[in-house]
Amino acid sequence: MNESKPTRITLEVSRSTAGAASRFDVPVPSATSRVLDALLYVRHHLDPTLGFRYSCRAGMCGSCAVVVNGKEALACQTAIGTLGTDHVRVSPLRALPVLRDLMCDMAPFFDTFKRSDAAMRAKEPDRKTLRTMPPGAPHRAAIEAQNGCLTCGACYSACEWSATRPGYLGPAAMNRIFMLSLDERDAPGRSRLATVAHESGALRCHGLGNCSAVCPVDIPLREGMQKLKGLLATEDLP
Ligand code: FES
Repeated sequence: MNESKPTRITLEVSRSTAGAASRFDVPVPSATSRVLDALLYVRHHLDPTLGFRYSCRAGMCGSCAVVVNGKEALACQTAIGTLGTDHVRVSPLRALPVLRDLMCDMAPFFDTFKRSDAAMRAKEPDRKTLRTMPPGAPHRAAIEAQNGCLTCGACYSACEWSATRPGYLGPAAMNRIFMLSLDERDAPGRSRLATVAHESGALRCHGLGNCSAVCPVDIPLREGMQKLKGLLATEDLP
């Protein structure tokens, strides 16, 4: 596809109801047009029943995560001109039950956060706001490097264990546990590591890095997992 010219693409979208993919001929007004723009064109002009999610259209909410030509991505941030083809296949996230077309049931993904208790429990629960971490605080840089998760589910979809091993916690939840275990404002602190020190947690990760490769905000998930394993090796866990 010529990135400088408006053109057309064949948009192939997985369908849950039809039992097969649907193909649409879609105009692409500019090389910066997004996959989400193409999906919206279909819904507005060709098939109003097409199911997909989006909200912010700015790469902030994570709700538009799908698989584009075999790789997890945010539909609102994926410029069609960067795909290098005029045939764009869009599928729902993997490892999650499909509700309709491109919409998945995200409950199993969010359940990984619940099961690992990946939520801050402040040491000072009576404060109205969380204490600010000063610039020189220990581990602040390490925490910031892993911060910013959109909870879009792209890493969970790309991780081979999420799809094949029921109960596996997945990269996003374990990344959160890693950050919390370093955070001195968190009451459980290092004791949280016990929630991932098992064969459905960090011990199962083989470090292939599929998670890092698809994270839309470039969180170094694989590196975080390696550091998490390093903590597990040094902590005396119950
Ligand atoms: S619509 Fe919010 S990240 Fe794409």
